Amino acid sequence: MSLLRVGVLASGRGSNLQAIIDACREGKIPAQVVVVLSDKEGAFALTRAAKEGIPAIHLNPQSFPGKEEYERAVSAVLKDHRVELVCLAGYMRLVGKTILDAFPNRVINIHPALLPAFPGLHGQRQALEYGVRFSGCTVHFVDEGCDTGPIILQAVVPVLDTDTEETLAARILEQEHRLYPEAIKLFAEGRLKIEGRRVLIKN
Ligand code: GRF
Repeated sequence: MSLLRVGVLASGRGSNLQAIIDACREGKIPAQVVVVLSDKEGAFALTRAAKEGIPAIHLNPQSFPGKEEYERAVSAVLKDHRVELVCLAGYMRLVGKTILDAFPNRVINIHPALLPAFPGLHGQRQALEYGVRFSGCTVHFVDEGCDTGPIILQAVVPVLDTDTEETLAARILEQEHRLYPEAIKLFAEGRLKIEGRRVLIKN
């Protein structure tokens, strides 16, 4: 089986990117990261990619007339690298129609909460402040909303009385690093089927 060509969009430290790269390298998933793209020049995710010999590209949204032009450039880079699945990993922008149309049902994201609870920024802080006993992370297909697309996988972690935002985030992150490669594996194996809001996992 040929390897699924994955493109990763990231804005920050890139620990999920690293988890994906490691899982690919260790042969745990039939995929390879072929390009990493960031909207932030100094993003550590780019450093990680470069260290692995993966093309690491910065595109500054400010140097384009608008979101559509920026997204057209992003899509062109992804297409140039023959990307088949786009993974958002700490990408701090709302993906718009241009990228979604270029990669229909081929953009996925990881969010540090159990969606549909606590979408948007600071999912871990929102969970802590709300007082839930359990939180976790969600891998989902991306649509034009903010963290609203069909859910692929979720993992649950307890929220402890002693938790701070940092300790909860760390507990969730451990699960993110396991869950994201697992979701990519299911996609790579052609086992995900979207039916309305539901994602069915074929055996
Ligand atoms: C993760 O918590 C992810 O769920 C969220 O942004 C964070 C990115 O972390 N979307 P990293 O850059 O992968 O370390």
